[in-house]
Amino acid sequence: MPKTPFDSALLGNLTPEQFLSEYWQKKPLLIRQAWTHFPELIDLARLAEFAQRDDVESRLIEHQNGRWKLEHGPFSQQRLNRLPESDWTILVQNVNHLVPHIADYLYQFNFLPYTRLDDVMISYAPPGGTVGPHYDSYDVFLLQVGGQKRWQISSDDASGFIEDAPIRVLKDFNPEQEWILEHGDMLYLPPKYAHYGVALTPGMTYSVGFRAPKTQEMATKFLEFLQDEICLNGMYSDPDAKPTSTPARIDDAFVAQISQMLQQVKWDDNIVRQFIGRYFSEPKPHVFFDHAAPLEFDGFAEALGEYGIRLDLKSQMIYSDEALFINGELIEFDDASPADLTALRQLADDRTLPAAQYSDELIDLLYTYHEYGYLHPATEQ
Ligand code: SIN
Ligand code: CO
Repeated sequence: MPKTPFDSALLGNLTPEQFLSEYWQKKPLLIRQAWTHFPELIDLARLAEFAQRDDVESRLIEHQNGRWKLEHGPFSQQRLNRLPESDWTILVQNVNHLVPHIADYLYQFNFLPYTRLDDVMISYAPPGGTVGPHYDSYDVFLLQVGGQKRWQISSDDASGFIEDAPIRVLKDFNPEQEWILEHGDMLYLPPKYAHYGVALTPGMTYSVGFRAPKTQEMATKFLEFLQDEICLNGMYSDPDAKPTSTPARIDDAFVAQISQMLQQVKWDDNIVRQFIGRYFSEPKPHVFFDHAAPLEFDGFAEALGEYGIRLDLKSQMIYSDEALFINGELIEFDDASPADLTALRQLADDRTLPAAQYSDELIDLLYTYHEYGYLHPATEQ
């Protein structure tokens, strides 16, 4: 799979540098005709098939008679058949794991690091379909694919959300700008920018979502990680102990010594880097790799030499100067030569590795990951 070159229409002929410095995390941008050349269009039947799978996250949002209704997938065909003519939206997460050209579209945004890129969610809505006025905590690019949607946006997010609704809908929404998006038009919104999209004719929205970890999440996950990494010496001792008449009391000397022990829990950027490598390459909970039918070793080595390889659509591979990580694991490859390392970093950045002669050690390693279902010869999807 050759790498798709960056198409300058995507950011309205701004360079990624210009976009990042003027708009990213700062202000909205409407881009007419940002992306029109998908090799195929996903129709509702295909999206509905995804929404029926239990390894795919999907939601259905209906707004009828002033009431919001939320259902989570997987949905049965009967449930989907019962949908009315209007006023609903079906949303499917991580379509980039399922459809190669949607992954190619996501990776058009790889001027931002993979630790920040999240997924492509696709929604379909008939006329009147909406998820209500709301804001998201993350940046988003909303691409209209087929049909028309009216988008209204507002910098005012002060009203708060309706308390008893199953989804986050703003109590008050005062639009400041409004556009009708047609096929290929895209709207970029920074985090917490209120927006309200209503389908005018049946169509889809492809949302590129980003990942911005919360401090609490990072702290919790880092502490879990640290638990397995630290190894501290020493134990409590009190050779100067005196008799106590209040044995239930937690005394200050005890607190001081335990506190001193805990101060041995320390970390540096190196350990944070390792944590990031594992945590940010970890597959989401519903992701499973198919390792049902790997090639035999010789067939794999031949395919690598002839076609190259590509990462599975679900794989995440990232690296630091010291280490490489794939799908939550540290890549153990102590005898990697500089050429092997260059190749692995190229595989992580480009998600493909061209046909070439690689070292036996590297082929062995790549074969192991092929057996896990993490990568495939570039001929197969
Ligand atoms: C939609 O796809 O209609 C909703 C996307 C969003 O508002 O974030
Ligand atoms: Co939104």
